[in-house]
Amino acid sequence: MRTLRRLFGTVLPFMFLAMLLTGCRKNQLDNCDLQTPLFSFSSFPIGVAVDDLLLQNDSMYQHICVTQFNRASPENLFKPAFIQPEENLFNWIESDRFVEFLQSKQMRIHGHTLVWHQQNPAWMDQFQGDRTGWESMLRNHIYQIVGRYRSSILSWDVVNEAFMEDGSLRQNFWLQHIGPTYIEKAFRWAHEANPEAKLFYNDYGMETNPTKRNAVIQFFSNLRLKGVPIDGLGLQMHVDIHFTDMIMIEKALQEVAAHHFLLHLSEVDISLNPLGKDYTLNNKDLKDQADMMYRICKSYKSIQPNLQFGITFWGISDQHSWIRSYFNRLDYPLLFDENYVPKPIYCQLKKI
Ligand code: G3I
Repeated sequence: MRTLRRLFGTVLPFMFLAMLLTGCRKNQLDNCDLQTPLFSFSSFPIGVAVDDLLLQNDSMYQHICVTQFNRASPENLFKPAFIQPEENLFNWIESDRFVEFLQSKQMRIHGHTLVWHQQNPAWMDQFQGDRTGWESMLRNHIYQIVGRYRSSILSWDVVNEAFMEDGSLRQNFWLQHIGPTYIEKAFRWAHEANPEAKLFYNDYGMETNPTKRNAVIQFFSNLRLKGVPIDGLGLQMHVDIHFTDMIMIEKALQEVAAHHFLLHLSEVDISLNPLGKDYTLNNKDLKDQADMMYRICKSYKSIQPNLQFGITFWGISDQHSWIRSYFNRLDYPLLFDENYVPKPIYCQLKKI
């Protein structure tokens, strides 16, 4: 009798507690476990920006890319400087290999990007020609690339970052030589080259700057009324943990959806050290990053499902994030650490 009482009084509660703790740890392990792909937890595609050199040379990078994500955006390979380095000389070897490899792994590819003010080859920058000459040069660029991947790339960022913070059009060489119609022309040419492809306008800051967002929404709504084939908007979502106005982000997503554009969160990363200070990574910031991602996903999931084109992260490991090289600062904006160990943000994503 005394033994039984001891069993119920002391041993069983301990056993129960131990089971609970193991259960919790198991849950945590399941969420962070790489065995189950991240994309399998999501009703919409989960994409990643892919660096071609790392894809070829870093086996762990390649493994995570093809097992965790189900869509890829070429981080640089399809930008004009890489794909058409000389006039009419297209660098298909690498782009073909990139596409074939990812397709063989059942990944979708989102083309990035046809028209931008950066990463253009010198010949394009110095191109001599009147307006008609510029137009046929741009048309050829778009026709060649979109046409070649007609059956394998079914969505494109046609124009990237054409607006300024104040909502005006950026003074780039396309605007200078073709005029503001370069945007609608680019969309029409991309559509002619592949009528099946979903076509996007992609920009940064739209999630937090209502002036820019409204200008973009207005501009593309007007184009659509004129019959220009534009399917969606890409909100890049380069954000940081110190931006806490999640209502504003939610509102931005709702506004885009209210105008019936497909919505792509197209280049997501969440900086922990936006001001580039001396910085020591800590658990609180990692948790804030995970919580912020959770809230962004929740807001995204609250828009109409048929407008949820997907969420794309701008890289795999912190080590290779553009933020470190571009701003020359220590930062940890992505889902995996330097050793490809999943971070809390990755584990949290699996709870959505
Ligand atoms: O290819 C050259 C190589 O030949 C040279 O040796 C090396 C030396 O630095 O540079 C290489 O080019 C770099 C290129 O990435 C490819 O690695 C450029 O310096 C570097 O500036 C370039 O950065 C890219 C950046 O766009 C250019 O603005 C980033 O990787 C890429 O993540 C970033 O992506 C953009 C999106 O396309 C649009 N939205 C913003 C986003 C972040 O800037």
